[in-house]
Amino acid sequence: MVWRGLETRDAVRCAELERVLFPGESPWPEQAFREEFAARSTIYVGCEIDGLLVGYAGLGIAGPLRDPEFEVHTVGVDPGFQGRGLGRGLMDVLLAEADRFGGPVFLEVRTDNAPAIGLYESLGFERIGVRRGYYQPSGADAYTMRRAGVGN
Ligand SMILES: CC(C)(COP(=O)(O)OP(=O)(O)OC[C@H]1O[C@@H](n2cnc3c(N)ncnc32)[C@H](O)[C@@H]1OP(=O)(O)O)[C@@H](O)C(=O)NCCC(=O)NCCS
Repeated sequence: MVWRGLETRDAVRCAELERVLFPGESPWPEQAFREEFAARSTIYVGCEIDGLLVGYAGLGIAGPLRDPEFEVHTVGVDPGFQGRGLGRGLMDVLLAEADRFGGPVFLEVRTDNAPAIGLYESLGFERIGVRRGYYQPSGADAYTMRRAGVGN
């Protein structure tokens, strides 16, 4: 198993995974991933098994570096490889990066996505609100969740 940063060449596989994982929620196309990987304000990590990318996750940083906030942009694991700790491993990498700077981490998650909510709560995220109809075109609601930063 290899954990590594993601780059342009991974956009095709990430878009393929998105179509499987988020079929009713405007899955990101390749170009969106290329732009995310190229942005200076994002950190992307992936997990490869036998040369195949099976998981990916991205974090955005906003605000001044002395007082930053973070947002989990996406996290997904190939259905054939779920339930083996990869999602937790990907999140651990992103949260370790956020904790180097300090500052809260935010994310949105479908209110009916029990596996993801379970993962996030186990990592210290708390529900702070509901965004009605956040996901499109499904119209599904999202919880906004927040994890306090180191020292706040
Ligand atoms: C959410 C997701 C990334 C988790 O990845 P994963 O590799 O399967 O998760 P892990 O094996 O690391 O499990 C981590 C934790 O998630 C929770 N979890 C995982 N599967 C679960 C399930 N079926 N039911 C409830 N909780 C579950 C548990 O808290 C688990 O911790 P534990 O094993 O210590 O009990 C994966 O299910 C996924 O890709 N889902 C589709 C895409 C998605 O919904 N992404 C999140 C969008 S906000």
